[in-house]
Amino acid sequence: MLASSDRVIQCATGLFAENLNRLPYEFAHTLVGNPLFELSRLVDLAERVATRRTPHLAGGDVYFNNGLIEPGEKPVRPDLPPASASDFIRKIDTAQAWIILKHVEREPGYREVLESCIRDILQLSGPELLRQIKWFEAILFITSPNRVTEYHLDREVSWILQLQGDKEIHLFDRADKQIVPDQELEVYWTADNRAARYKPEYESRAIVYQMHPGSGVHIPINTPHWLRNKNNISVTLNVNFQFHDRHWANLYRANYYLRRAGIAPHPPGAHPVSDRLKSTVFTVMQRAKQTVKGRPHIPPEALEQYRRIAQLARCF
Ligand SMILES: [Fe+2]
Repeated sequence: MLASSDRVIQCATGLFAENLNRLPYEFAHTLVGNPLFELSRLVDLAERVATRRTPHLAGGDVYFNNGLIEPGEKPVRPDLPPASASDFIRKIDTAQAWIILKHVEREPGYREVLESCIRDILQLSGPELLRQIKWFEAILFITSPNRVTEYHLDREVSWILQLQGDKEIHLFDRADKQIVPDQELEVYWTADNRAARYKPEYESRAIVYQMHPGSGVHIPINTPHWLRNKNNISVTLNVNFQFHDRHWANLYRANYYLRRAGIAPHPPGAHPVSDRLKSTVFTVMQRAKQTVKGRPHIPPEALEQYRRIAQLARCF
């Protein structure tokens, strides 16, 4: 096991493990100054990931939008040619842009960064966590000065690592049903990625962390959040993983359909026996459907990544 001073992610073990996927917390990291994250390198990286063929994004593994927005606004999604992403990075200072480079761990150098972070996460949390995980990802966010990232939810358990510039993140308590109603979560997990609705009347309940190069924040699943960049270019790395569907996704999906059938379901976590039953039934139904329609495609790179990380975990 690495000495704590050799880890990329630096955090007290108790705080890290006890609050993992429960509560947000701050930590430190050692990636500041790594040349992989200089803007000139990110222009090259954007051009490479934009050429990937992906079923969901027209621009490969790049997504971006531009224009100033407020936390409760959904940005307009322009259908620009993929090459534009690297152009936007070149003029990021004035572009009012928000750019995502997805799956950067599939590129040399960035793969090792992800694996170092996941190694630290598994060492700090315990390697048994690995069995619950479906896949891993590293995402880069590049944002223009003062740009807001709208209020949203994520399916992933995330650690965001600030690499360049200062920004603030506003996080809300996922257990607060006024802020995160069960119905909103069920729609989010089942039918609409943009179902989370910002409620400005509860803004005073937000936990606000000031992020700067070298700082990081953990974001549990279902924790609503929005971000505001300071008057500087910001580069942020997001290291995340998704659990197997049976642990979270299928519970919300089951509740979505139960509610549509006129039944008021218990929220996940309230009744463990009911959770197991719902998850088992929904998972069996899902597999039956996949037998007919085919299993979702898992890229070979993701399977190889998982195998490499499992190998790392065996060495602890
Ligand atoms: Fe997010």
